[in-house]
Amino acid sequence: MVTSRGESFEREEPIERASVDEIRHLQLERLRWSLRHAYRNVEHYRRSFDAGDVHPDMLRSLEDLSKFPFLTKHDFRTRYPFGLFAVPHEKVVRLHASSGTTGKPSIVGYTANDVDTWAGLMARSIRAAGARTGDMVHVAYGYGLFTGGLGAHYGAERLGCTVVPVSTGRGDWQVRLIRDLRPDILMATPSYALTLAEAFVRQGVDPRESSLRIGIFGAEPWTEAMRAELESRLGLSAVDIYGLSEVMGPGVACECLETRDGPVIWEDHFYPEVIDPETGRPLPEGEQGELVLTSLTREALPVIRYRTRDLTRLLPPTARSMRRMARVQARSDDMLIIRGVNVFPSQIEEQILRTPALAPHYQLELTREGYLDSLTVHVESLGADDNAAARHRTARELAGHLRTNIGIHVAVEVHSPGAIARSKGKARRLIDRRSVK
Ligand code: DLL
Repeated sequence: MVTSRGESFEREEPIERASVDEIRHLQLERLRWSLRHAYRNVEHYRRSFDAGDVHPDMLRSLEDLSKFPFLTKHDFRTRYPFGLFAVPHEKVVRLHASSGTTGKPSIVGYTANDVDTWAGLMARSIRAAGARTGDMVHVAYGYGLFTGGLGAHYGAERLGCTVVPVSTGRGDWQVRLIRDLRPDILMATPSYALTLAEAFVRQGVDPRESSLRIGIFGAEPWTEAMRAELESRLGLSAVDIYGLSEVMGPGVACECLETRDGPVIWEDHFYPEVIDPETGRPLPEGEQGELVLTSLTREALPVIRYRTRDLTRLLPPTARSMRRMARVQARSDDMLIIRGVNVFPSQIEEQILRTPALAPHYQLELTREGYLDSLTVHVESLGADDNAAARHRTARELAGHLRTNIGIHVAVEVHSPGAIARSKGKARRLIDRRSVK
């Protein structure tokens, strides 16, 4: 497909394979623009740069960015709803909101150019994931204020695909539609993809026989073990796509089908850093820390050094010339401290998936006894041998894995198939009952 501006999204864009020098040069030029744009048009940046004794003119190299102050979720809250916008309202053609469950959501805005850039980056992402012009794409990310549905939709259209804008919910009906329309690509959260796999089985159909070739999954943490589970259940290649509302939406980074070795960050539009979350200092490539992103081309809502709270590592380029990020297995706020041991839900997921009698459906219940947090892992049996004694045996097996591999002593309750609530979008893994008496 060729757009009205004559661009073609059927092939890789030259910048995806440009030399590192060329990319760094472009980044520096765009970063200068972005800092000036933010400083000139957003009071928050003017104040925070002034308070930090920095000015956009002081940026001589990309490394100089580390002298500039961070932007946090808290800043979005205190400037709610439009306080971080850098353009007048009449230039804003679209609003979205972050899907946070607590506090005020971040309201994000886009100019017509921003929507266009986003569609282009999503087209690039979907293409990198293995889709081609002419493919049919079933979009099961939620449509609405959440960026998943519309982000995927515009990108798939831009690539020249046929979009089926299904949104979330009504799994049985979605499966009927997949069987009738025969799409090539599924775009969904990994947990919702599992829900769909079950709906296939309920309809007496083997999901591995479906027309789906590729799944483009993201919007929530998932593990390598979950990738293997999804690939074997659905008979497709599962590709990881990353993004967040505050920085754009999906398509900040996406894996390439040929390597599937961590999402490639589209560095011509976003400058990544990984910092030590305690000290705020940038970490060398390869070290685990918090991802910080700076937008290089965004007009309506420039973000300078946004602390994503997502924990990852920067990795050298492979399939493209741009750097990759390691799969985000956790957010810094998801860390649980169980009797002094730090643990992330994804570590528990890995142990569940390596226990053969268990299904990949789980929830973690956090309670407080005195001053100590206790965790109960609720998980389902696969159902092959579903009686109380077998469930008890499996619970002990998983508790043993968790003790030996993560070092946590937790209660495990294995339930009958279907007992754990199924995901309708982003899975709710943690039930926090600590404040409930
Ligand atoms: O979840 C955007 C998105 C939609 C990404 C569809 C991918 C696909 P928010 O609702 O603002 O935006 O949530 C952003 O979700 O900071 C991460 O914690 C998490 N997240 C997103 N993608 C991934 C991923 C969308 N691939 C927050 N792996 C982010 C792990 C992810 N976590």
